[in-house]
Amino acid sequence: MSKPLRKVVFPVAGLGTRFLPATKVVAKEMLPVLDRPLIQYAVDEAVDAGADTLVFVTNRYKHAIADYFDKAYELEAKLQEKGKSDLLAMVQGTLPKHVRAIFVTQPEALGLGHAVLCARPVVGDEPFGVILPDDLIWNTGRGALGQMADLSRAQGAAGVIAVEEVPHDETDKYGIVAATPVDERSAVIRHMVEKPKPADAPSNLAVVGRYVLPGRIFELLERTTPGAGGEIQLTDAIEALLKEQGKVLAYRFQGTRFDCGNKAGLVRATMHMAMQDPKLAAVVREFAASH
Ligand code: UTP
Repeated sequence: MSKPLRKVVFPVAGLGTRFLPATKVVAKEMLPVLDRPLIQYAVDEAVDAGADTLVFVTNRYKHAIADYFDKAYELEAKLQEKGKSDLLAMVQGTLPKHVRAIFVTQPEALGLGHAVLCARPVVGDEPFGVILPDDLIWNTGRGALGQMADLSRAQGAAGVIAVEEVPHDETDKYGIVAATPVDERSAVIRHMVEKPKPADAPSNLAVVGRYVLPGRIFELLERTTPGAGGEIQLTDAIEALLKEQGKVLAYRFQGTRFDCGNKAGLVRATMHMAMQDPKLAAVVREFAASH
């Protein structure tokens, strides 16, 4: 891939059942880690990677995401009137001015692969990024997707997929890769399988929610039939890309990942962010000491 990464897709049309009943009306991606919703961390990472076009794949329950990135006339006028310029800048800064947000719908939750395919009319035939906002990856330097975009360009890879080692008995929760190491952070993927039982897993290197993919993946997704869990799996289309001799790299990103798709991960992310702030860190320490 030699073109810059301009477009990033956010598949946010899942049902979020692990956070019911809140997710009856609150999109999972709008759950806050301190004062920022998960989707804001994801958007900041995409912008850091160089994206100027953000494609949100949503459903009819997720209007709050579009509202969040829209102009808030009344609120902004009030903050202006009261001279609260810091808050005004914060409200206006959810999306930088040079970045546009485009919303497409996934009419039915048929799987992550299907959600990505819904973005095809906007992305077209160019390389693009995918961020699953419930995987929050925190890094003080370049964001994970930016690191992957840089690697993709440097290596001329068709794709780059973020991976992390997981406990062997948890392989059935993830896409798992078999890969040949290139250096300490990257490896060439030979094979990928979605949610294998620990006994069948080719390794414990699990795919996490960041991808750099070529436009070609859409063609392959069109041909992908439902796989694990009866869903159209992105992993299966990437496996088809590998079979076409596409060079796809697995990349161990710099940063800390919090799986905010479950309660324990959201609690950990919240504590981690709290520890960055001296006043809140004192609250966490005091709470831990007294429990
Ligand atoms: P998850 O497997 O976390 O599913 O999806 P979910 O529905 O969001 O949450 P649970 O498991 O019911 O609690 C991984 C990512 O893929 C998106 C989700 O929004 C999430 O970002 N997704 C999944 C879609 O956009 N559409 C789908 O059909 C499935």
